[in-house]
Amino acid sequence: MKYNFDQEICRLGTACEKWDDLENHFGVKDVIPMWVADMDFQSPQPIIEALKQRVEHGVYGYTLRPDSYMESIVGWLKRRHRWSIEKEWITHSPGVIPALSLAIQSFTQAGDKIIIQPPVYHHFARVIQANGREIVNNPLKLENGHYSIDFEDLEAKIDSTVKMLILCSPHNPIGRVWSKEELTRLGQICMKHNILVVADEIHSDFVYKTHTHIPFASISEEFASHSLTCIAPSKTFNLMGVQTSSIIIPNQQLRDRYDRELNTLSIGSPNIFGVVALEAAYRHGEEWLDQLLEYLQENLEFTLSYFSKNIPQIKVIQPEGTYLVWLDCRELGFSVEEMDQFMLQEARVAMNEGHIFGMEGEGFMRLNIACPRSMLKNALGGIEKAVSSLCKV
Ligand SMILES: Cc1ncc(COP(=O)(O)O)c(C=O)c1O
Repeated sequence: MKYNFDQEICRLGTACEKWDDLENHFGVKDVIPMWVADMDFQSPQPIIEALKQRVEHGVYGYTLRPDSYMESIVGWLKRRHRWSIEKEWITHSPGVIPALSLAIQSFTQAGDKIIIQPPVYHHFARVIQANGREIVNNPLKLENGHYSIDFEDLEAKIDSTVKMLILCSPHNPIGRVWSKEELTRLGQICMKHNILVVADEIHSDFVYKTHTHIPFASISEEFASHSLTCIAPSKTFNLMGVQTSSIIIPNQQLRDRYDRELNTLSIGSPNIFGVVALEAAYRHGEEWLDQLLEYLQENLEFTLSYFSKNIPQIKVIQPEGTYLVWLDCRELGFSVEEMDQFMLQEARVAMNEGHIFGMEGEGFMRLNIACPRSMLKNALGGIEKAVSSLCKV
């Protein structure tokens, strides 16, 4: 392997949310940060070099997205996800969550209903509520350690006031990579009821062996023209700080409406470093990503085997994608507050508490495994020690 993902990099004191915000967020400092979806790895060298060159130029004025930038996105989707798009379909957003907010403002009215599928990335609910729209929950079904979409519940909850469904694909936090059959059935239901699908595919580049991410809009022309797809190099290359995302909207009328909202807020201009980083990532980041995926696969196998051998009281929901691992801790028998305190005070590990992803997440914790294996070992060791001390009581 050319890249050394075992290297520990000190991020303290770099205004890094994952490390420097621990005390503010969790009320404790000396815990291992395995929370927010941010990796403890350096970005690939070609991105660092491209940014250095741009920094050296020393002039950081208003910036454009050149054709080569747009073509790099087209090329990425074609090579990595077998999805052919026109560069005219691409529009923009600083982040994916701002894009969800813009989509809600562009395509729904106050009081309209929007479907989400909890347990799901907590900002979906927040952004719907912040925009004065109503949430309709279509909880995922958990059977024998496997999550699936509850299509009967979905159909039962649809009425004429439901205007949008926000799809998380791959799904954070439970790690499903939806199959073509599942996406097709979901899409057909949405098309039948004229529901716009906003596909958040920010985790699409993280898929484990034997699974394939299928862009929702690539399934049919009908799905493409009734959907928006949000992607970004941010999770893939650990570039969240440059705030640069791409929103694919094949339907020109929808794209124009989205762009009007973007322009109303005057947030359509790019971040100069985002332009450079995105293009370098999509043009030169593939070798690094392939190696990263191998490393994450090994981290996942290590995690699965560690829990089954040493902490069998916690059941791991095996992810098919993402670097987030959903831990079923219900057997420990804690209340929500007890669980949060136990993981922080006894295990000394900061994870995302399952309940923030919806009440369906109560009794679960989300573990981020995108870190050097030494850090992962320490975190799992902390959880093991804390859980085994429970058994001795
Ligand atoms: C599913 C999902 N969507 C969006 C985001 C955040 O996107 P952004 O930082 O681009 O707003 C995250 C971050 O964890 C996520 O998991």
